Amino acid sequence: MLYLESLYSKNANNMKKSVIRELLKLTQQPEIISFAGGLPDPDTFPVEDLHQAADLVFTKHARVALQYGTTEGDNELRAELVKFEERQGHKIGPDNLLITSASQQALDMIPKIFIDPGDYVIAERPTYVGAIQALQSYQGRMLGIPACCDNDGMDMDELEKRYTKAKADGASIKYIYVIPDFQNPSGICWSLQARKALVAFAYKYDLLIVEDAPYREIRFLGEHQPSIYQLDQEMENRGIVIGLKTFSKILAPGVRMGWIVARPEIIQKLVVAKQAVDLCTNVFSQKWLAEYLRTGKIYEVIKNTCNLYRDKRNFMCEMLEKHLPKRSDLFWTKPEGGLFLWIALPKFINTEEMIVKAVAEKVAYVVGSAFYFDEPEHNAMRINFSYSSKTQIEEGVRRLARVIKAEIVAHEAGRHSVAAPEGV
Ligand SMILES: Cc1ncc(COP(=O)(O)O)c(C=O)c1O
Repeated sequence: MLYLESLYSKNANNMKKSVIRELLKLTQQPEIISFAGGLPDPDTFPVEDLHQAADLVFTKHARVALQYGTTEGDNELRAELVKFEERQGHKIGPDNLLITSASQQALDMIPKIFIDPGDYVIAERPTYVGAIQALQSYQGRMLGIPACCDNDGMDMDELEKRYTKAKADGASIKYIYVIPDFQNPSGICWSLQARKALVAFAYKYDLLIVEDAPYREIRFLGEHQPSIYQLDQEMENRGIVIGLKTFSKILAPGVRMGWIVARPEIIQKLVVAKQAVDLCTNVFSQKWLAEYLRTGKIYEVIKNTCNLYRDKRNFMCEMLEKHLPKRSDLFWTKPEGGLFLWIALPKFINTEEMIVKAVAEKVAYVVGSAFYFDEPEHNAMRINFSYSSKTQIEEGVRRLARVIKAEIVAHEAGRHSVAAPEGV
């Protein structure tokens, strides 16, 4: 019998299934209230305007849209994206841009061009599971750095310490991967000071920074912060930042379209890598998005999305406050944007074991351990607040609270019975 394991490459054998995708299958039963997926609210999709833009592509340039395109991406779309980026304070030209099949493709192509087996990437702890998965498939490793105590960026002392030790042990460290805006999974947003400190660290040790920013525009509270890409331009303009952007959270994830912003040499290397993957990004979709962006209506969509998510986030926090037990070892982040918050539970609760009980109660979350490259924490969970309706949020939090309270009660009972004298 053909033994496939011996035929698969080391890279393929190193690939791990996404816990989230597996969980999503489990939670797709209609009666389950799922806080697990990272889905935007479909009411935010501008269906009619996108329909009109697609019609325009067929009437104006169907034959070009149905043909192969360049790997770098459609010129009209790139011109629109230059304008979009300028509004963000980024000074770029078309040579700084590569259109991708959304950010996940970029997360795969970056290790493809930088990582040899055993090389390290510095990242936040926890971090986005899709970035971990992509890195694992190239046999890369992660040097995880926890957030500092007030949840603002990385703990810079820890970063310095771990970096110095890893280098002394002979590690090859290629880049720093961060999600500074409303991180997936924690919802944390970095302050200006934390961002500047990271750029200074990267300058000091000659490292690249990959800034993954799918949630950047979804700020519904607090003050706007410059991107790390912009800070590099303002500080010494060394071109050390590779920015990853996507239409998934600001327009619609089914579009599967994103872009990379970086200095031209890096873009050109990525172009070669992408040629082996898919030759070019879907040309019709690029023309379609260019038509849509030209209307300028995306800014209204973003504004409405922010308003809707602010409301849902506030309601989610209110429900958590109302239903979860009040203890100093049970707390959650209060994001100023994005789609997620992170709940830390008492250390004795294992959210991987608890998920079975939660699904039995018809509520789902993502286990926190999915977001660690190694040495996972087991007592946390990621909660999505963008997808569910308010009625579902209320009922879902009530169910979740029931499951958590039952764990606490079982633990307390166990502790008392262990403490009880034998034979009683
Ligand atoms: C931090 C981060 N990066 C990248 C992605 C991938 O998004 P997409 O491929 O839809 O652009 C996601 C999706 O949730 C994400 O949270």
